[in-house]
Amino acid sequence: MLETGLTIFAGNSNLELANEICRYLDLPLGAATVGRFPDNEINVKLDVDVRGTDAFVIQSTCPPVNDHLMELLILIECLVRSSARRVTAVIPYYGYARQDRKDESRTPITAKLVANLLESAGANRVLTMDLHAAQIQGFFDIPVDHLYARPVMTKHFKSLNLDDPVVVSPDVGGIRLARGYSKVLGARLAVVDKRRVSPDSTEIGFVIGDVEGRTAILADDLVSTGGTIAEAAKIVKEKGAKEVYISATHPVFCGNAVERLASVNASGIVVTNSIPISTAKELSGLTQLSVAGLFGEAIRRIHQSKSVSSLFD
Ligand code: R5P
Repeated sequence: MLETGLTIFAGNSNLELANEICRYLDLPLGAATVGRFPDNEINVKLDVDVRGTDAFVIQSTCPPVNDHLMELLILIECLVRSSARRVTAVIPYYGYARQDRKDESRTPITAKLVANLLESAGANRVLTMDLHAAQIQGFFDIPVDHLYARPVMTKHFKSLNLDDPVVVSPDVGGIRLARGYSKVLGARLAVVDKRRVSPDSTEIGFVIGDVEGRTAILADDLVSTGGTIAEAAKIVKEKGAKEVYISATHPVFCGNAVERLASVNASGIVVTNSIPISTAKELSGLTQLSVAGLFGEAIRRIHQSKSVSSLFD
């Protein structure tokens, strides 16, 4: 179906996903230059008229984070100055999210700073997925539609017909996401809890919940260096899990992530295409599921002023 008055643009972070979303919507990706000036400043120019349109800009703020964030801000500013009626920042992966509070003195809250920047650039709405912490929505004074990769991920795990699965959150902060998966899969829930038992001892891993003899699905919002997930996998195996699957919405994959993930010997590693994975970072057993349909449908519903939350009923 061709939507009228709807325009879609993208930065360079994830053109494959942007094109897939456009195919879902049966719309062309808006023609624009998003390049560099000789001094490496970002050079944006829209090659189509956007006056009065409902404009969506697709850009994950994945590495190189600052370049991608700046491209997004400049695209938003450009659409505003080109008289788009409304500008929605579509951010499949919202970077800088992990600093969402001051958990020690003299540190910034970058998740809030990025929210301020997006609003200052002129964004009227934000559409994102599996924020590191749902309360980041409250950092904005504009509407935020928060999608979950859950339907895509759980459909995949259901198709595997796993024997006695237990969804495991690799840390206490991820319980909400893991609980959502366990409900849909009708599986048990467990949580890895790493504790320092005394100030001078190393951390010891506990598992709250029963993983012994079961298939553990470690579910997290993102894998960055892979440290959290590899450590959690080691602990659940020590507690008797018979096999381990890894599920993470955002494959940030930096540092030694690929080596760490490979060392887990997981039966499967499932991520989404919120962030593209370069061939250098592909590893065996990795499945990358598309969230293009989810974003495409959410964009269609936002444009038509229809419910987005009902996508998850
Ligand atoms: C932490 O709260 C997050 O949910 C992830 O578990 C964490 O950020 C992953 O980072 P890394 O892969 O570097 O351990």
